[in-house]
Amino acid sequence: MRWLETSPERYDAGMRLITFGRVAHLHAGVAEAAVAKPGDRVLEIGCGTGAVTLRLLARGARVTAIDQSPDMIEQAKSRAGTADVAFLEQTAAEIDALPEASFDAIVLSLCLSDMSASERAWVLGGCPRILAPGGRLVAADEVRAPAGWRRVLQRLWRLPQAALGWLLTGALSHPLADLGGELQRAGFALRREQRWLHGSLALFVAEPSA
Ligand SMILES: C[S@@+](CC[C@H](N)C(=O)[O-])C[C@H]1O[C@@H](n2cnc3c(N)ncnc32)[C@H](O)[C@@H]1O
Repeated sequence: MRWLETSPERYDAGMRLITFGRVAHLHAGVAEAAVAKPGDRVLEIGCGTGAVTLRLLARGARVTAIDQSPDMIEQAKSRAGTADVAFLEQTAAEIDALPEASFDAIVLSLCLSDMSASERAWVLGGCPRILAPGGRLVAADEVRAPAGWRRVLQRLWRLPQAALGWLLTGALSHPLADLGGELQRAGFALRREQRWLHGSLALFVAEPSA
């Protein structure tokens, strides 16, 4: 475990640093888009230290949170306390074992960029099956900034950002080149898009195409 992962507070402080504070806006946007009403069943993939989990719970969601890292699951569990949330230590690819139509929303916050392109395609492709009718997918991540000065700026801050990200997670994430396109290829229609940090952090709300 990297030293920054030894407490949720330290981890979250690192995430704030990497994103120049925008991670809080992204997390708030994710929770707001995911929970339409109290009691909604939300699957959170890659819950990390539980920062989004807590926001989902605060909005009244019934949350199932998965993460492949036992350390992250432990930290998220201790943060959630007695709240009604199921934590599962498993990889995102294992969502194919979850029951059909069992969630009103699926959340992927800052975790798709940790995966390979083939894993992302597998995971996103498995999401429509487990969404209940009227359900939505909320995907938020680091993406390639729009071409021009914003892309240049992103390249400049990318090196220190990637180094710190590696310290935090032990993994090298890569900005996603076409998150919206990947969602569409997985069978989703895009309903909403929001961006922060000169277009380099994006949130998509999508629904299975009819
Ligand atoms: C950068 S953290 C983001 C945590 C949280 N979702 C947030 O927005 O702050 C990425 C998390 O995704 C988890 N993760 C990455 N790839 C995964 C996979 N294939 N299956 C399950 N969890 C995964 C990592 O263990 C880590 O806890």
